[in-house]
Amino acid sequence: MITFDRILPITTDVLLTHREVIAKLEWLLVNRDLNGRVRLIVPESAASAVGLREQIEAVYGELAERIKPHAHSPGSGILYETSREDACQGASAFPLDGVDKAWFVDRLATESRWESIADVSPGAPRIVFFSIKGGVGRSTTLAASAWSLAMQGKRVLVLDLDLESPGLSSALLPPERQPEYGITDWLVEDLVDNGDSLLADIYGTSDLPTSGSIHLVPAHGREIGEYVSKLGRCWMPKRNDRGTLESWSMRLKRLVDRLEVRHRADVILIDSRAGIDEVAAACVTDLGAHTVLMFAIQGQQTWTGYRALFSYWRQRRDVITKIRDRLQLVAGLVPDDERRLEYLTALRSDSYALFEDTYDEVKPGEISGWNFEEDDDVAPHSPLAVRWNRGWYGMMSLQQRMVHVDQAEVKAVFGMLLDFLERAVGQGRSM
Ligand SMILES: Nc1ncnc2c1ncn2[C@@H]1O[C@H](COP(=O)(O)OP(=O)(O)OP(=O)(O)O)[C@@H](O)[C@H]1O
Ligand SMILES: [Mg+2]
Repeated sequence: MITFDRILPITTDVLLTHREVIAKLEWLLVNRDLNGRVRLIVPESAASAVGLREQIEAVYGELAERIKPHAHSPGSGILYETSREDACQGASAFPLDGVDKAWFVDRLATESRWESIADVSPGAPRIVFFSIKGGVGRSTTLAASAWSLAMQGKRVLVLDLDLESPGLSSALLPPERQPEYGITDWLVEDLVDNGDSLLADIYGTSDLPTSGSIHLVPAHGREIGEYVSKLGRCWMPKRNDRGTLESWSMRLKRLVDRLEVRHRADVILIDSRAGIDEVAAACVTDLGAHTVLMFAIQGQQTWTGYRALFSYWRQRRDVITKIRDRLQLVAGLVPDDERRLEYLTALRSDSYALFEDTYDEVKPGEISGWNFEEDDDVAPHSPLAVRWNRGWYGMMSLQQRMVHVDQAEVKAVFGMLLDFLERAVGQGRSM
């Protein structure tokens, strides 16, 4: 039986077998539609070329037979288009391995795509706290990081983008400092051009004594309101003044850009949603992240999820090269006893297995390139350990915890990550 995962390898195989036919075309697109059915799209000129049309039809006939039921009937399986760009209809295409001039276009039902990586934002570094699994200490670490950077005099802007299970604001702001609105309110008001009027009431300022500041923009306001109804509309694209459609994640980026300027932020910390999820995709790929912290706890589930994401990126070679130097593994909740070293060694080994294929191969005599050994401590796969610590257990009391926090203890638990952040923020341009 042929299921979805067989489509790509079989298609590649069929096209390789007929590469002399494909070579006669200026370009060829393999289009996998929203239902997972494949069509070939070829230049219009091929429709009238003597013999070529029949040859393409024969290739599609063979392909359709082999990937059934993921094909159309041979009569409707080939489209003729004037240009490759028009045929892509805004979707990005990646080259098919080994088949010259053939590209694969994958249409997804989701709007956010893990494959379009925005350039690093030129202003304050945007640090995304991401993980495949939930409950790994992401939000707690973010709170400690915000505090620590503010203690160094930085103006820290924190965004709670875990929209579907918000909570960070209750950790960093006491109830009386919660702002009236949150990110979901802005996303909904922006649809009716009312977003700007919320900007003054969409953030709360932490009262933790620091020489810098922490401004926090929560997922929702003091009163959660009709949250489910608002959340269901956040994802709406909007037609802008120039008549083009702005996706919800581009709208979100516009909000982050506005907030960055308004608060003259030195650094922006973003609490992303966990998993291969739409909001997480927006945080990791669309907001101009400077660094994506990938939280991991040792276990099969972590690596299965990350592998799925990496293999999607690797298939699209230019995607992995665009994002790989922004990724950094973080080991969350590392056992704080004699198991620690063994735990971290196992984690490093699995992490290296994940990252290894994203590194360049070192050719003899070459020293440049994106390449790291397994034991390299400044490599992206080298885990920055956040230690499990009894004093940090139990999120309910985090606001209280932060009031009584002391620097030595924060350093002991989060030190490795904080040193990394300090370097990252130091490299970024302060506004
Ligand atoms: N360093 C730590 N030591 C001990 N407990 C911790 C530590 N960091 C977080 N915790 C606890 O682990 C639990 C999960 O933490 P947290 O909410 O920060 O994780 P998360 O990854 O943000 O989870 P979610 O996916 O639900 O947002 C909480 O009970 C928290 O108090
Ligand atoms: Mg969290």
